Amino acid sequence: MAITDPKIAQDDRSLDQTLRPKGWAEYIGQEMVKKNLKILIQAAQERNEPVEHLLFYGPAGLGKTTLAHLISKELRSQVKVTSGPAIEKVGDLASILTNLSPGDILFIDEVHRLNKLIEEILYPALESRSLDIIIGKGPSARTIQLELPPFTLIAATTRIALLSAPLRSRFSGGTFRLDFYSENEIEKIIERSAKILGINIEKGAVKEVAKRSRFTPRVANRLLKRCRDFAQVEKSQSLTQDLAVRALDLLEIDPLGLEGTDRMILNVIISKFGGGPVGLQTLAAATSEEKETIEEVYEPYLMQLGFLERTPRGRVATGRAYQHLGHSFSGQSAFLS
Ligand SMILES: Nc1ncnc2c1ncn2[C@@H]1O[C@H](COP(=O)(O)OP(=O)(O)O)[C@@H](O)[C@H]1O
Ligand SMILES: [Mg+2]
Repeated sequence: MAITDPKIAQDDRSLDQTLRPKGWAEYIGQEMVKKNLKILIQAAQERNEPVEHLLFYGPAGLGKTTLAHLISKELRSQVKVTSGPAIEKVGDLASILTNLSPGDILFIDEVHRLNKLIEEILYPALESRSLDIIIGKGPSARTIQLELPPFTLIAATTRIALLSAPLRSRFSGGTFRLDFYSENEIEKIIERSAKILGINIEKGAVKEVAKRSRFTPRVANRLLKRCRDFAQVEKSQSLTQDLAVRALDLLEIDPLGLEGTDRMILNVIISKFGGGPVGLQTLAAATSEEKETIEEVYEPYLMQLGFLERTPRGRVATGRAYQHLGHSFSGQSAFLS
């Protein structure tokens, strides 16, 4: 499952596309972000200028890529999609930029993984729409400057802290944080997805899936699909609450949406490190997970639940985590005493 991997599994990717909202009305929640974007778009359209460069950040699966597509739809402009790690050489970026048409949107996902040399090429492109290319080597090398068409960069990242200050400052249109959704919003998203997928779902099942979906649309959609498989194999015409509970229990997703690895991480902090603080490096070694995966995939939701805290000395499991996992909590952890 994708949750064990920061990169999205193929199955999730095609599901993402099928269920991706096609207009603002279908994009549920994130009201402040939507309001601000609509104003930016309208103002730019009235001035007949491209929208200024935008940055979206927040945990995976909350709707960053969807927003980029919605904006392009609204502007009736083409969107060219790439990602930080896909742009390996200066030439890769140069070729992407020189192939843009006026008004295009360039979407760079995982922008925190853009190599620093390439980042520097991007600055003048963002600021003055110029591309400086060095031709030749040694004493005969010279720089030529190409003018780029007006375009909008939309970048997305799960790790805003890793972006350099100069890059962050170039998003003149704004930097927007996507938050976890409310249970109510997730329920609406599940109902919409069920309709599109032709699933006859009971309200109780909607609630059950919503509760366990980490307040994250992508997870909600994935769980919905797993529940549908379960109902189908059970030869049920509709997805009832009972079927949803059984399907999700079988997947070992607990009532708060924690999966095996979430529980393992907390259990390791509690049992091996007395509740913490424990450094990320040590935690990664003790759980056999990648540092980045712990930080990007598991921690945001554990912190959202108030089960985990990041402190200067390391990760700490809270009393709530002890309680949820059935450990007795003395309140004597080094952090809390
Ligand atoms: N606000 C929303 N309303 C409805 N569905 C959403 C919303 N945000 C995300 N989704 C669903 O979740 C999936 C993942 O969203 P995506 O934009 O790919 O997330 P991110 O790029 O932040 O990882 C989308 O395909 C879409 O089906
Ligand atoms: Mg995305």
